[in-house]
Amino acid sequence: MQISVDKQVALVTGASSGLGYACAQALAAAGAQVVINYHSHAEPAEALAAGIREQGGQAIAVGADVSQEQDVEALLGATVDAFGALDILVANSGLQQDAPITEMTLEQWNTVLQVNLTGQFLCARAALRQFKRQGPRPWLSRAHGKIIHMSSVHQLIPWAGHANYAASKGGIDLLMRSIAQEVGEQHIRVNAVAPGAIATAINAETTQGEAGKRLLGLVPYGRIGEPQDVANAVVWLASDLSDYVHGTTLFIDGGMSLYPGFRDNG
Ligand code: BGC
Repeated sequence: MQISVDKQVALVTGASSGLGYACAQALAAAGAQVVINYHSHAEPAEALAAGIREQGGQAIAVGADVSQEQDVEALLGATVDAFGALDILVANSGLQQDAPITEMTLEQWNTVLQVNLTGQFLCARAALRQFKRQGPRPWLSRAHGKIIHMSSVHQLIPWAGHANYAASKGGIDLLMRSIAQEVGEQHIRVNAVAPGAIATAINAETTQGEAGKRLLGLVPYGRIGEPQDVANAVVWLASDLSDYVHGTTLFIDGGMSLYPGFRDNG
């Protein structure tokens, strides 16, 4: 059994670093033609695209702010111009602006909700419209399009000091399941992945050294995740191997969502 998304067109948002970068790389390795979206860092996105092309794959990098409707429309336009269709959307772009609730500014609240939640709505809507326009592509995949939302363990676990982020991820859960309920009969699959503690550059401060050791106390499986752990799940959800998986969130968290604080008491 081999996982393949051969010749399918995949758009990954927020793919100039971290989880998005790993997902774009893994989808390309599984045969996809990849659109690597970035917000402000063109260089690593262009370098990733060039690296994929050097390996014989197909990839382009496209700048867009997913919280802006016009940008998202242009991003979809660029995808279809380059590769003629869209088969897989990985709605990954996200950010954190942390503050205690009484200190949190409206701007911090709005920025996080606009990128993490509105951005996923705009990208999903644009992808769904494109899936409808292009129709089924049965020589490539059983589903008539696939969407994978990037959520977090914090769609479930409350997170003091990060109310905007947790609210955005909680929102993704019901956004994803509502869309899945709505478009299932069109044979479009919609799912999410919910990563826990993953060693990305952005998380370096909390996943390494003493902080990393403390963090391990929250991970029953006993290791910090790698971006590849998330990318592997995303490729599976994008492939026909998961063809009967719809409206589900797959937690990629080493058990962080098992309330490990209750191991010894409670
Ligand atoms: C956040 C990380 C955090 C992890 C576990 C993720 O959604 O982006 O910063 O380490 O959740 O708390």
